Amino acid sequence: MSTEPETASTPVAEANGTAGDTLSITDSRTGASYEIPIRDGAVRSLDLRQIKVDDDDFGLLAYDPAFMNTASCRSAVTYLDGDLGVLEYRGYPIEQLAEHSSYLEVAFLLVHGELPRTDELDAWVYDIKMHTFVHENLKSFIQGFRHDAHPMGMLLGAVGALSTFYPDANQIHDPDNRAIQTIRLIAKMPTLAAFSYRHNMGQPYVYPDNDLEYAGNLLGMLYKMTELKYQPDPRIAKALDVLFILHADHEQNCSTTAVRAIGSSQVDPYSAVAGGIAALYGPSHGGANEEVVRMLMRIGSNENIPDFIDGVKAGRERLMGFGHRVYKNYDPRARIIKKACDDVFEVTGINPLLAIATELEKIALGDDYFVSRRLYPNVDFYSGLIYQALGLPMAMFPVMFAIGRTSGWIAQWLEMVQDPEQKIARPRQIYTGERGRDYVPISQRD
Ligand code: CMC
Repeated sequence: MSTEPETASTPVAEANGTAGDTLSITDSRTGASYEIPIRDGAVRSLDLRQIKVDDDDFGLLAYDPAFMNTASCRSAVTYLDGDLGVLEYRGYPIEQLAEHSSYLEVAFLLVHGELPRTDELDAWVYDIKMHTFVHENLKSFIQGFRHDAHPMGMLLGAVGALSTFYPDANQIHDPDNRAIQTIRLIAKMPTLAAFSYRHNMGQPYVYPDNDLEYAGNLLGMLYKMTELKYQPDPRIAKALDVLFILHADHEQNCSTTAVRAIGSSQVDPYSAVAGGIAALYGPSHGGANEEVVRMLMRIGSNENIPDFIDGVKAGRERLMGFGHRVYKNYDPRARIIKKACDDVFEVTGINPLLAIATELEKIALGDDYFVSRRLYPNVDFYSGLIYQALGLPMAMFPVMFAIGRTSGWIAQWLEMVQDPEQKIARPRQIYTGERGRDYVPISQRD
């Protein structure tokens, strides 16, 4: 079965420029004028290179240290409108997918570009179930970590190590090869995540049970003890499945950009996805859900919220789980997660931190500091509370994020590998250091 995305055919918004639209530029240094073509609301940075002071000049560069206003690819995977709070995978609104779909169906959608027919979904789910086991040596690999190793570090190491178990994965121009690595990555991520957790707990690793669905199987590998057959609570399994859907993709975020940049060197997808896990590890990205719970525990009770908010406004703190580079409106995923919280807490009992989170959100959304900066709750504000209610330690939160994001990373990697415009990622710099200095022997240095 092929896992290739459909060829992209996203209609280009007419408002963003029609053929023949240009940007007129006059260079005040030379008086020369240029017509730079505009396509899809963008100019090509390379078109700026013709703007020179003289023949020896390298040409004008675009300077954009954090890609704040630079599109690094054309993509048909995920659409995001940060001002309106809209998120769509392959054109389908996240709200409808969270309500009606399953994580594996969404993974198929992201990877193939279309929702599957019944036979396609059955074959996809079967293939993924058939690849949930990992090579026994990977177990010893995880056993080699210290008992208190961060599970995200273990996951990152283990996924990187997968490339050594599948050395043919570097045949990235072979569609069948890409298809099998895609299935393996989505299938094995929960197994490796659960092994990392059990390693921290000092408990024996639990093998996958392929009678269970994707989220239920993960719950089994996390929590099964002596029972012969682990039976996940369907409400918990469903809530977890929804969380995976919400985290599945988010267009060109930090970790996806890492996957694309690393993959652009034509390395195998395990190495590229390990880079994505590394990027997700940081507290400004996937580590934020862990930081939110730490922050709520530190606040401790509702009466401490005003002091905390004062600290944020004075620049001493950050309100973790608030703000987003792209969303300048309520993150649609946060709204759906709030509902998933209710479902989970019905089973586990209410997480006492929920009351603090709800009050904190209310106060922040009414405070001019947050309103004027358009800071709203993001996906991570509530997800940590669910993971905590499931009994997971905070260090596991970004690992759970990584499981869901794997389908998005691989869909974006597949798109990048097949995009004829993509070359090895290699930004330019503006050099600010010294030039042309003569070497001074150490004995003559002050
Ligand atoms: N608490 C307090 N102030 C904030 C926050 C926050 N969480 N986020 C932004 N600001 C302020 C910031 O200080 C700045 O103020 P000023 O204009 O006075 O200097 C202004 O808002 C703009 O912020 P920024 O840092 O320029 O925005 P950014 O786009 O670079 O940062 C962010 C985006 C997500 C890193 C940031 O909002 C943040 O650190 N949030 C907390 C961490 C977090 O929740 N991260 C998870 C993101 S969602 C998951 C994902 O998709 O990865």
